[in-house]
Amino acid sequence: MTELAAQTPISKFNSLRYEDEWLDVLAEGLNEHGWLTVDARPMLGDQLLSALRQEVRILDRSDSLKTARIGRGNDKTRDRSVRRDKIAWLQGETTAQSDLFQAFEAIRNGLNRRLFLGLKRFESHYATYHPGDFYRRHVDSFKGRASRVVSVVLYLNDQWNQADGGALQVFNRDNEQEVCGVVTPELGRMAVFMSEEIPHEVLPANRTRYSIACWFRQDETPLPL
Ligand code: OGA
Ligand code: MN
Repeated sequence: MTELAAQTPISKFNSLRYEDEWLDVLAEGLNEHGWLTVDARPMLGDQLLSALRQEVRILDRSDSLKTARIGRGNDKTRDRSVRRDKIAWLQGETTAQSDLFQAFEAIRNGLNRRLFLGLKRFESHYATYHPGDFYRRHVDSFKGRASRVVSVVLYLNDQWNQADGGALQVFNRDNEQEVCGVVTPELGRMAVFMSEEIPHEVLPANRTRYSIACWFRQDETPLPL
């Protein structure tokens, strides 16, 4: 095993060729359909996924997650009819978070090389949906702002059944009434989509639902709050 493979979780269990092929799948899905769902377990490894799952459970139990808001700048509101999840921003401070950040960097560079998106940075947060929580249909970025460009959601739930609810519904980018995909928030599953284009919705969860959302952005620095 090379030095790089030993240090880089995204390559720890796989050859760089595998990583390249996995990134090809991402780029192709985004390019052709604007979204895709993919199993990230072979890329991230079970150990990292368990560590992240453990972290978010501890944050949840210690009441460290805050009610999420919608909108931007002065328009930020806590509208419980739209969104009910709780979040905590990742800082990359724990080993698990720093390993995940390396994987996000590999995705950022991989998409830039393949799709010339000019993604400059990413931001990510843990999210929990408690029973009854949902996030109504929305897009992650307003058209033309080119701030959030690619959205990634990584799910952290063991043994998720259909009866547990909480699926991500993805809508057709040309007809937002038409559901074109349903993603179960099972451990290691990832949803990837173009932030401005793809309307999506989190259906009410019947059991606590853990995830990490990440946005790849084209702007260098955050706009003033
Ligand atoms: C979001 C979001 C989807 C999900 O946080 O903006 O749409 O499946 N999350 O958690
Ligand atoms: Mn969203």
